[in-house]
Amino acid sequence: MQESSHQQGKQPSWVFDPFAPGFDANPHPQLARLREEHPVYFWETGRAWMLGRYDDCVSALRDPRLGVSIRAWRYAHELQATPLDSVYENGLFALSAERHTRMRKLLSPSFTPRAIATRQPEIQAIVREALDRVASSSEFDLVPNVSAVIPVRVIGRYLGIPRDQEQVFRDFASALVAGVNPVLRSQLPASAFQAAAEGRELLLRLIAERRRHPGTDLLSELIRAEDEGDKLTAEELVTVVRSLVIAGAETTTHLISLGLVNLLAHPTCVERLRLDPKLFPNAVDELLRFDFFGRIGTARYTLEPVAFCGVEIGPGEMVIPMLSAALRDPRRFPDPDHFDIDRDQRFNIAFGQGAHYCLGAALARLEAEVVFSEFFKRYAAIELVDGPHFEPHPVLRNATSIRLRVIPRTTPRDSPGPG
Ligand code: HEM
Repeated sequence: MQESSHQQGKQPSWVFDPFAPGFDANPHPQLARLREEHPVYFWETGRAWMLGRYDDCVSALRDPRLGVSIRAWRYAHELQATPLDSVYENGLFALSAERHTRMRKLLSPSFTPRAIATRQPEIQAIVREALDRVASSSEFDLVPNVSAVIPVRVIGRYLGIPRDQEQVFRDFASALVAGVNPVLRSQLPASAFQAAAEGRELLLRLIAERRRHPGTDLLSELIRAEDEGDKLTAEELVTVVRSLVIAGAETTTHLISLGLVNLLAHPTCVERLRLDPKLFPNAVDELLRFDFFGRIGTARYTLEPVAFCGVEIGPGEMVIPMLSAALRDPRRFPDPDHFDIDRDQRFNIAFGQGAHYCLGAALARLEAEVVFSEFFKRYAAIELVDGPHFEPHPVLRNATSIRLRVIPRTTPRDSPGPG
């Protein structure tokens, strides 16, 4: 067994830096080096082990010797406590295996592809509403007008958040997303903690109301959800909603943003998608594989010694499966730097793997499909005129501006596409 270079105090001379200038625009050269030359890499800045290869990432996500609770991290005691900690510590990702299995059983029926498909008209209406707002502009910014507004609105409407409370819900979502990094959480402004508390109050009020007057929204559905007499408490329901917002808002925003940019760079694929919308699901998965928006992967914590590529990692360490590197691993994806919407996606791990596999995968896929197909239906031509421009973000490549020039079709709703 090779002793880890970290333990020997010998770091490789090459330094992987996911915050280096240019990483956001094109992380792939650095990710390739990580994967090919330093597949098990101790990242000093984050005090974490990074895994660059597909098989190691899959093993880490499936191996019970790696836990999800940050309490197992040897540096956890150094983190400054904040009022938001319990949100993440009790979130779906961090629950013990037993509680997690119970929650997933209660939630899963509402997130199957079939259940999500029934929401298509609602999602389509939200997307059309956003695009109608920029209908008179031949140039607009994709991010603030479309990709950053749609995911939170979709979750909010799915839950049945009243329209006059949407801003409270949006501020709640922004605060939870901003607090995701445990090291930076204590630096959040007081307004973020306030917004998180107001969001919780709003949800508790709505839960009480829906218990009296159930509707067809997700919150009512989850209140009704029952497994052998087992039901979710109000606090658990709040936890679930928080997890949905944390996991489903920004991720889907970046899928839409970088996804559209990558599609525009491949006009033949756009043409094929216009003519045959059945190609969308595979194309959306390929967009995630080809240019995954994660800067740093999801974290796990070693409960016992584990080894990857012959490097032993002791207990109490943070391990980060770098999905962005793994999704271009040539050992699993032939010709990985080639964008191919016909590629076999069975091994795609953009939505994770194992017990914590993304609950919202069907929703994210459907949102992206509806947005892209609506764009191709409305516009005869779409041109990228500026961007993507990125702003700092602890875990994602955060595209905040993508300017597009568009030429509308003369008969916008006549061309092919779902719905
Ligand atoms: C492109 C969009 C998305 C991507 C790439 C994505 C990716 C992921 C990944 C990789 C995980 C596993 C994390 C881990 O194992 O540590 C995950 C978990 C999760 N995702 Fe997503 N996600 C997306 C959108 C969504 C949406 C729209 C929702 C819901 C509204 C959602 C809800 C969740 C939840 C609740 C979990 C935790 C599941 C659990 O712990 O059992 N995600 N997601």
